[in-house]
Amino acid sequence: MTRSPVDFETVLADAQAYVEVQIQGLSEALPPPVPGRLRESMLYSLQAGGKRLRPIMCLKAAEAFGVSRDRCVSLALAFEMIHTASLIHDDLPSMDDDVLRRGKPTNHVLYGESMAILAGDALLAWAFEYSLAGLAKARIPAGRACSAMRIMANALGPFGICGGQVLDTDPQSMEDGEDFPFKVAAQKTGVLIAACVEAGAVAGGADKKGAEAFRSYGMHLGTAFQVIDDILDVTSSALELGKTPGKDAALEKRTFVSTFGLDGARELARKESDQALEALLGSGGEVGFFSALTDYLMERTR
Ligand code: IPE
Ligand code: IPE
Ligand code: MG
Ligand code: MG
Ligand code: MG
Repeated sequence: MTRSPVDFETVLADAQAYVEVQIQGLSEALPPPVPGRLRESMLYSLQAGGKRLRPIMCLKAAEAFGVSRDRCVSLALAFEMIHTASLIHDDLPSMDDDVLRRGKPTNHVLYGESMAILAGDALLAWAFEYSLAGLAKARIPAGRACSAMRIMANALGPFGICGGQVLDTDPQSMEDGEDFPFKVAAQKTGVLIAACVEAGAVAGGADKKGAEAFRSYGMHLGTAFQVIDDILDVTSSALELGKTPGKDAALEKRTFVSTFGLDGARELARKESDQALEALLGSGGEVGFFSALTDYLMERTR
């Protein structure tokens, strides 16, 4: 099913607004004995804005298999917690050493490095606690909830973000060759995006074929997403991006742009997007939103 762009943007704005209200609502969810400063630091980054792409994708994947967003919202928020934690850690002085994120000073700039590390760790663990409780309350069958948790854990551990960030930051792990940026992107970005849609689909009751189709879609979309992130790092401004442009060159990163040039990178993003769309065919779910989203993300400017 195809939708007109106007339709899609309305649907996307509605999903964004829904997720935003839920995220702002988390303020009540961290009462004492959580230390006040830890709560503040966690919520500072979580509630700072951002595109909310991962939770939206998770909810839409569950909806594609007939489960309402209210029943899967805890899982979707958990993915935003994990993503936010990964950004807090990504910005640390020992990682990308960034001072601007989501248009605001980075977490460690305001709260100090030790708090930023702990706020990230706390968000990662809270993601599991919060989503398991929410899925149980929504009576999502335990088997499906467990599978979603395994997919989520896989995305942030050695097979996912931790592995990918090592490839991205450890000089001894850097490799020559044109495959390298794909490897990095798959682990640091693709696996989490794939996990959002796969876990959402699984929680929504997708069968194995449907879950695999969504995972493959997410991996290709995640690569395209990182290609465009690398392009925007070169072509965009701090005002537009809400983060410091030119960081990748300053840190001598092996990115899609440094490897393939701007035009080559643009071509790659298109190719990965096409492969993402192809993977959706045969998922057995309602995928109109995801095909429109894929085209929309190709044109993103932040
Ligand atoms: C930034 O992700 C980090 C990457 C994986 C490239 P987003 O571009 O989704 O960041 P927010 O959530 O909108 O701030
Ligand atoms: C993605 O890479 C980071 C994570 C997986 C957290 P980048 O380092 O390029 O992300 P930005 O550009 O700082 O958002
Ligand atoms: Mg980084
Ligand atoms: Mg970075
Ligand atoms: Mg980047």
